Amino acid sequence: MATFQLLFPLLLVSCGASASPARQLPPCQVVQMDVLCSDLSLRSAPVNLPRGVQMLDLSRNQVQNLTRETLAFHTDFRHLNLRSNKIHAIQPGLFKDMTDLKVLDLSKNRLNVFALSKVGVGPLTTVESLDLSSNGLYTGMSDYFLADSPSLANLSLNGNSITKIAQNTFSGSLSLRRISLHNNVILEIEDGAFECLHHLTELDLSKNSITCITDFNLYNLKVLNLSKNSMELFQSACSTHLYNLLHLDLSENKILYFPSLPRANVLEYLDISRNHLQSVNVSGSPEKRNNVFLNHLKYLDISYNQLQSVPESFFCLMRSLKVLNVSNNCIAEFSLTVEGLLPTVKIINLSYNSLRSLTFGENTLQSLEKLFLQGNDLTTLDQQVFQRLPNINYLQLQQNNLEICDSQQNQYEPAPTDQNQEVPPGCVSFSSVRNLHFLYLSENDLQHLPANAFADTPLKENNMSSLNTDLSLLSSLKHVDLSTNQLTSLPEWNKESSIESLNLQNNNLVTLEYSTMLALEHSLKTLYMGSNPLNCCSNLGFLHMVQRSAVVVPDIEIVTCVHKDFAEPVNIEKLTAGMCHGSGTSAYVVVGVLALLVVMVALGLLLDAHYGEILLDEKSNNTLMMNL
Ligand SMILES: *[C@@H]1O[C@H](CO)[C@@H](O)[C@H](O)[C@H]1NC(C)=O
Ligand SMILES: *[C@@H]1O[C@H](CO)[C@@H](O)[C@H](O)[C@H]1NC(C)=O
Ligand SMILES: *[C@@H]1O[C@H](CO)[C@@H](O)[C@H](O)[C@H]1NC(C)=O
Ligand SMILES: *[C@@H]1O[C@H](CO)[C@@H](O)[C@H](O)[C@H]1NC(C)=O
Ligand SMILES: *[C@@H]1O[C@H](CO)[C@@H](O)[C@H](O)[C@H]1NC(C)=O
Ligand SMILES: *[C@@H]1O[C@H](CO)[C@@H](O)[C@H](O)[C@H]1NC(C)=O
Ligand SMILES: *[C@@H]1O[C@H](CO)[C@@H](O)[C@H](O)[C@H]1NC(C)=O
Repeated sequence: MATFQLLFPLLLVSCGASASPARQLPPCQVVQMDVLCSDLSLRSAPVNLPRGVQMLDLSRNQVQNLTRETLAFHTDFRHLNLRSNKIHAIQPGLFKDMTDLKVLDLSKNRLNVFALSKVGVGPLTTVESLDLSSNGLYTGMSDYFLADSPSLANLSLNGNSITKIAQNTFSGSLSLRRISLHNNVILEIEDGAFECLHHLTELDLSKNSITCITDFNLYNLKVLNLSKNSMELFQSACSTHLYNLLHLDLSENKILYFPSLPRANVLEYLDISRNHLQSVNVSGSPEKRNNVFLNHLKYLDISYNQLQSVPESFFCLMRSLKVLNVSNNCIAEFSLTVEGLLPTVKIINLSYNSLRSLTFGENTLQSLEKLFLQGNDLTTLDQQVFQRLPNINYLQLQQNNLEICDSQQNQYEPAPTDQNQEVPPGCVSFSSVRNLHFLYLSENDLQHLPANAFADTPLKENNMSSLNTDLSLLSSLKHVDLSTNQLTSLPEWNKESSIESLNLQNNNLVTLEYSTMLALEHSLKTLYMGSNPLNCCSNLGFLHMVQRSAVVVPDIEIVTCVHKDFAEPVNIEKLTAGMCHGSGTSAYVVVGVLALLVVMVALGLLLDAHYGEILLDEKSNNTLMMNL
């Protein structure tokens, strides 16, 4: 039996523990004063536990009847872990003599059976942390554990079947700081149930069946989680008392009106996502407007509601807001024009609404760094809208209908109208958006990307490392600039291309596939290839194409390759087939691959959001024209 096998090693440890701080003593492990006996099919603790054992881990065993004998008559534990056993009986008064016991984990047992005996466990005089989760406990059953627990600070009753919190539930455990009741079926909380707990700072009531809170008055509470209930209403008590609440999670409920929050508050985090909000009004009647100052609020999530508008005035009271999520609503117009509005906000998420109009005034949103606008109906935008955001560096605009302006074409310099070429009625300008590093523009039906679209932005620092998009769909693509990225290869491509000029300068290309070369060869007229770490002998095909075909390589003087016999890179014009004897590589493979890669990269840029940060090198003065 396991119990007897342990005798000798445990004795050894108790005499010589200091000599070896961690010893493996099968089947239990003894680490200093901790005895770890998890998952050993034990019905009780080893009889020869060392004196002064502080922690006993008996989790995942077969303990059924928890008595002094089961614990080998030891009383000096600080931490007892009895999680995942089959405990259905506890000897009354068992813990009375354990005057050091601070942490008691009884989760995942059958304490509902014990509770049916209607006998208390006796005092838990020193226990600070008690885990009773997943025990099938229903209303009133926790009383047998809480009646005399004066030191209890942390209590978990998660995953039980409690339907009601009675007024006296916690009257024997007045030191509670943290209570977790996640995943029960609580329908009712009696008046006064939590009010007597003056130290209570965290209350998790998530995943229950609570329908409304009408008189919230827990002034000392810091974190309240009511997520995943059936809440329709949240109302604070009408009081001028200061509430210490910092975190309020009301997500995944059925709330119709903006919660009525405490007037004197320091709230920092408010999540009302996935509810039924139709307006940010506090109630249906206009006279009860929300006039609560949310001066400390840093995070506000009202995504996944049914909001059709959010008036600008709503944000006037939020001087500290950093993250605002309004996405997945039905907002058609969004404007922030009041000077100095939302001065600290860094992230605004307006994705997946039905935005047709977006207006930002001068000197609003001075700290905004990230703006998410994907999945809207934006067609026209105030051209200079992004230039007014001095710190914007990340912009998601995919799935809209935007046109991009030329850098010259801005509000100060009216676009020429006398030419027969018609200027797009509305376009958005990105030039001179000085901190813009990431821009996503896929699925905008872009027909044309002006040459200087990104002039005076940091977007020239392209950094695409791979491209897996099939560019053969773009049958009219003629000019592709993929220069200054980190491309190590080009994706595969089956159809012949129409690409006439291709810029692959300044990438990480080592070899090029023959198939790519073939796909490009008939149309390609100009190829830029300099500043790549090409391998000489695996790229003989490229050399051959350059020498033989009509392709012009304007930067041929800086096209070099690496050869094992030469310390310095060799200019590709000086390379001969003779220098690569014995390598056996097909000379034609390299060129083809290169060409294919280029085309695909260009397509990816405009069609796929995740490639969006790689943009054209405006300095190279090439144009990516996509006539789809
Ligand atoms: C638990 O063990 C104690 C002491 O051995 C015994 O008196 C009691 O009847 C047992 N309870 C159950 C439910 O087996
Ligand atoms: C109570 O829970 C908190 C959060 O998990 C933890 O930091 C703290 O140490 C716990 N207190 C005790 C006495 O277990
Ligand atoms: C509230 O509870 C839900 C469900 O357990 C959890 O996902 C969420 O993170 C909690 N919220 C906070 C603010 O802790
Ligand atoms: C919200 O309040 C405003 C101002 O009182 C009112 O005009 C508007 O109709 C209200 N919206 C809803 C949905 O009740
Ligand atoms: C709302 O957006 C913020 C910031 O973009 C994000 O952190 C949060 O997870 C989003 N909320 C939901 C419910 O996805
Ligand atoms: C924007 O909010 C939505 C939820 O509405 C979320 O799924 C998405 O991840 C958020 N975007 C970012 C970039 O945080
Ligand atoms: C480009 O990508 C490389 C590797 O992915 C990374 O180390 C480097 O910091 C990036 N450069 C810029 C300017 O983002």
